[in-house]
Amino acid sequence: MSTPSAPFTDPALIRGPLYATADRLAQRTSALHRAKTTGADATATITTLAAATNPFPDRVADIGCGRGTTTVALARQYPSATIVAVDQSSALLAVVADRLRAQNREALLVTADFHRLHGLLADVDLAVAAFCLYHSAQPEQALAVIARCLTPGGSIIVTTKSANSYHEIDTALATSGLDPGAPQRPSLYQSFHTANAETVLTTAGLLLNRRTDQQHIFRFADADHLAEYVVTCPKYQLSPALTDPKALAAALRDRLPDCAVTATSTVTYLVATRR
Ligand SMILES: C[S@@+](CC[C@H](N)C(=O)[O-])C[C@H]1O[C@@H](n2cnc3c(N)ncnc32)[C@H](O)[C@@H]1O
Repeated sequence: MSTPSAPFTDPALIRGPLYATADRLAQRTSALHRAKTTGADATATITTLAAATNPFPDRVADIGCGRGTTTVALARQYPSATIVAVDQSSALLAVVADRLRAQNREALLVTADFHRLHGLLADVDLAVAAFCLYHSAQPEQALAVIARCLTPGGSIIVTTKSANSYHEIDTALATSGLDPGAPQRPSLYQSFHTANAETVLTTAGLLLNRRTDQQHIFRFADADHLAEYVVTCPKYQLSPALTDPKALAAALRDRLPDCAVTATSTVTYLVATRR
C-alpha cells in the first residue's frame, strides 16, 4: 500500500486500497475487537443514544456505514423505519445488503460521497456518521451537507476517536527500528477527533445536545496479534517485505524483547440537531 503524507484523507487511497473491498476493514476491526479489554461496545452505545434521541424515527440514515454493523443494529432497533445506508464504497454496501437480508431487513443503498449528498438523501429524522468523518479533509463541510439532509429538528449521532489513539503502537514500531518515524506521523483521526469534534459540529451549523467520552484499552498480547493490526494501517511505512503479517510478526519478535503492547483510545459520541 502506498503511503501519501495524509493517507487517511487521500481520496484515491480511501476509494482504492482502504475500502474498495471489505477485507482490510474486516481484518482491522477483528484485530481491534480481539484486543479490546476495556470500553463499551460502540454499536451498543450508538443505538442506546439513538433510542434516547428519537424512539420512533421514520427514516434513519447510516452515513459512511462501512460493513454495516451499526446499520444492522439500527434496523433491528427500528423495525418499521426506512433504513438508508450511505457509503462511497459499493463493495461495502453489498456487504451491508447481505447482512440486512440475513436479518430479513432491507435498506435503501446510496453509493455516494458524503460531501455530495444533494438530491441523493433527504428527510432523514435520525442520522449516524460513525468513525468516517476523519476521512474528510473538511469534516465541517461534510457535516453541513449531512445536516441539510435532516428534517427540521432532525438529529445526528457522530462518533470519532482521540487524535493520539493507539500511539503506543507507533512507539513500539519506532523502538523496533521497523518504522522509526511512526510517532511523528499524523494519526487516522487527525482531521476530526475528540478535541476538535464539537467545534467542527457547530461550524457546520449543528446544535450540540449531548456528549459522551469513553476510554478504551486494547491489549495486543503477542507479535502475531500486533502485526495483524499494523498491516491494516497505512500510517506505517514498513519495508515491502513486511506487509505480510507473518513476516512482520517474525521481524517484531527479532527486534523487541516483549512484543505485547497495551494501547489506548478515547471514543467520543456527539448527539446534535439541525437548527
Ligand atoms: C472506518 S469505516 C467506518 C464504518 C462504520 N461506520 C463503522 O462504524 O464501522 C469508514 C467508512 O467511511 C466510508 N467513507 C470514507 N470517506 C467517505 C466519503 N467521502 N463518502 C462516503 N463514505 C466515505 C468508507 O468507505 C468506509 O466505509
